[in-house]
Amino acid sequence: MILNMTVNGREVRVDVPESKRLLDILRDDLLLTGTKEGCGVGECGACTVIVDDAAVNACLVLSAQLTGSRVETVEGLDRGGHLSPLQQAFLEHGAVQCGFCTPGMLMSAIALLRKNPRPTEAEIRTALAGNLCRCTGYAPITEAILAVVAAGDHV
Ligand code: FES
Ligand code: FES
Repeated sequence: MILNMTVNGREVRVDVPESKRLLDILRDDLLLTGTKEGCGVGECGACTVIVDDAAVNACLVLSAQLTGSRVETVEGLDRGGHLSPLQQAFLEHGAVQCGFCTPGMLMSAIALLRKNPRPTEAEIRTALAGNLCRCTGYAPITEAILAVVAAGDHV
């Protein structure tokens, strides 16, 4: 099928099988390798991207579901070669260790902050419940998000 969609604000058109996973379209067809594959079955959150304002697991979304969709990936956070405020906060709070979970964490956090710009710590933890991290113990990630909220930064 010919799939037309928007990725990070850019219109894209790819020729893919109807059953191709969004994760593979991003990584293989569009060379956006920031989105990671962990489990491949919807359990780790490493592949989280935003589709039409909702955080989704890109390993569970197929081409046939994507026509006309608005997809956002970690690459879309780029601010002209600089980190976004949320990325900077992750760095400053030690929320990035091996970094494998980080793109998915960032996208889940952004989806939350757009819906709820002033989340509590409990709300942040609930929103990130589907994103597994084996390194940080989660506290630095929560602290980074709370710091951005406290500063009123646009994520
Ligand atoms: S790779 Fe998609 S949820 Fe783990
Ligand atoms: S920083 Fe390593 S899995 Fe989260």
